[in-house]
Amino acid sequence: MKRVLLVAGVLFYAPGSMPVAHAQDAEAGKAVFKAICNLCHEAVEGKNRVGPSLYGVVGRKSGTLPGFNYSEVVKGAGMIWTEETLDKWINSPQTTVPGTRMTYSGLKDDKKRHDVIAFLNTLHH
Ligand code: HEC
Repeated sequence: MKRVLLVAGVLFYAPGSMPVAHAQDAEAGKAVFKAICNLCHEAVEGKNRVGPSLYGVVGRKSGTLPGFNYSEVVKGAGMIWTEETLDKWINSPQTTVPGTRMTYSGLKDDKKRHDVIAFLNTLHH
């Protein structure tokens, strides 16, 4: 019995199983990005629109992309964009940083939000 459980544990944590699930989330998140975020943001480096380029946003300090004219509140927020801060922000930008110029009301669907964060996580070198 013990041996069976051990084998099952090894299979469950087999390298490769997690990245596959992650890639699927990111793929779904790419569609969410295109449908919503793309109205104002690009996913490619150095291309700002109404909103700043989101290439490399995970790990970046809020309001620091050179060449984009951020609101004072986002510049002053001093947040690092992690999965946690992005989750709050994408759910409700205006309550996360009151006064932000990101007028989007927020993505309330947990699955779509997590998928789009998984996609943002792929946007780096
Ligand atoms: C209606 C336009 C609009 C939409 C739609 C929009 N954004 Fe934004 N976003 C902005 C603007 C404008 C800013 C800059 C905010 C400021 O300076 O106050 C911003 C800022 C951000 C930032 C902070 C970036 C940084 O460099 O600090 C993140 C992260 C972000 N948006 C993610 C998203 C995601 C993910 C989506 C889709 C779910 C999205 N946005 C949809 C306009 C938009």
